[in-house]
Amino acid sequence: MKNIKILAIESSCDETSAAVIANGKILNNIVATQSVHEKYGGVVPELASRAHQQHLIPVVHEALSSSGVCKEELSAVAFTRGPGLMGALMVGVSFAKSFAYALDIPLIEVNHMQAHILAHFIDEPKPSFPFICLTVSGGHTQLVLVKDHLAMEVIGETLDDAVGEAFDKTAKLLGLPYPGGPMVDKYAKEGDPNAFRFPLSEMPSLNYSFSGIKTAVLYFLRDQLKEDDKFIEKNLKDICASIQHTLIKMLVQKLKKAARQYKVRDIAIAGGVSANSGLRNTLEELAKELKWNIYIPKFEYCTDNAAMIAMAAHYKFLNKDFCGLDVSPMAKMKI
Ligand code: KG4
Ligand code: ZN
Repeated sequence: MKNIKILAIESSCDETSAAVIANGKILNNIVATQSVHEKYGGVVPELASRAHQQHLIPVVHEALSSSGVCKEELSAVAFTRGPGLMGALMVGVSFAKSFAYALDIPLIEVNHMQAHILAHFIDEPKPSFPFICLTVSGGHTQLVLVKDHLAMEVIGETLDDAVGEAFDKTAKLLGLPYPGGPMVDKYAKEGDPNAFRFPLSEMPSLNYSFSGIKTAVLYFLRDQLKEDDKFIEKNLKDICASIQHTLIKMLVQKLKKAARQYKVRDIAIAGGVSANSGLRNTLEELAKELKWNIYIPKFEYCTDNAAMIAMAAHYKFLNKDFCGLDVSPMAKMKI
């Protein structure tokens, strides 16, 4: 098949994004970040939908004009069907349907979590099958066995909070602005990871639990602040380093177990938390020790973006995996 050109839309959370892919090569990745949520300390679903509504057409316009691909040349249009915020998804789905209907081209639905993993196929080097991908974001923490581009199996996942949520919620307890993950990472770089100890959750099989650390940090701070009301400011770097160390330890324990169990040496990470410098360093050390091949996407493809949706759509196009115009978004959607 030649000249496959696809426009892809991402609108599952708080980034409005559009990208164009031509014959499997990403031409661009336009992202409009919503700053409106900052003052609320988290994503406000209603505001996210309204911002998508405002940003989507300008973002699509920029994606098409900067790629040099005109809409009449498009072979298909793709969108994120789920998982995500229902109202936010609805904006992207409605746009994609109208676009496909008007141009009379196929419509491709994409699973956001599958797309995070397929971000590894945008640039070289690409992992070889089978590989394990640890997907770590604000909404998800999953260990996925990737057998082929579109054949994936979730082998472990969090039973409560996502690891990104654990970063953000503990950061909030420290008075850091949302999203707290990058701030914890920044302070942790200069702190002692062994200064304070927080309990590691003991979950069976390959599953995770991250809700306990938030409670542990809450009680720890409450007790320390009783003794010294300046405790947080005096120890911020050490507290951040200790929290980050605990979260990474939990992530890596199960990742090592999964790699052993499935006899896999190609290990990838995806999602917003893969930007974490502590996690990246730990994986690089493990790669040396266990002879793993590690794959970490470029930062712009770690956080939510339409390039990864376009990559997934390309493989689905090759399989002629199209959907009808009666498709609806899914807030919860399995890989
Ligand atoms: O994948 P993503 O952009 O959005 C979704 O949740 O789908 O991930 C956002 C999450 C937030 O929880 C944010 O705090 C976290 O990724 N994050 C980080 C870092 N950069 C982003 N967490 C720890 N260290 C970082 N450097
Ligand atoms: Zn995401």
